[in-house]
Amino acid sequence: MTKSIDWTLLRNAALAVAKNAYAPYSKFRVGAAALVDDGRIITGCNVENASYGMTLCAECGVVSELARSGGGRLVAICTVGNDEAVTPCGRCRQLLWEHGGANMLLEVNGVPRKLSEMLPVAFPEESVFVNPKAD
Ligand code: THU
Repeated sequence: MTKSIDWTLLRNAALAVAKNAYAPYSKFRVGAAALVDDGRIITGCNVENASYGMTLCAECGVVSELARSGGGRLVAICTVGNDEAVTPCGRCRQLLWEHGGANMLLEVNGVPRKLSEMLPVAFPEESVFVNPKAD
């Protein structure tokens, strides 16, 4: 994708979807918005559970929405929590790696950083991805 990334659009989409978060336990309402390689914008919010451990992060919602809406590769993601920037947790970096790969961009405190920098020496190497659209 050659089009430049509209981070303001992604941030506003993340802020908007965070209002739909189900976070009665942590009270931390997270929203995430991602750009897909075909240009569409997809979003997700965190959905907690009384078990705590089974909480679904906002990025899980994004990945679920990616598949639901036709698949593709993730190009960039912006995550916010209680209206502030959030860096995706370790588990979600692995999840994003599967669907975005090394060159996917994460907005970290306002600065786009490659996923390869945020999840160095990731497993598995991209060459073994099953996804035929892998980079
Ligand atoms: N959370 C996310 O949704 N994404 C992250 O990257 C970090 C954490 C959620 C999980 C839980 O519902 C709340 O934030 C507090 O950890």
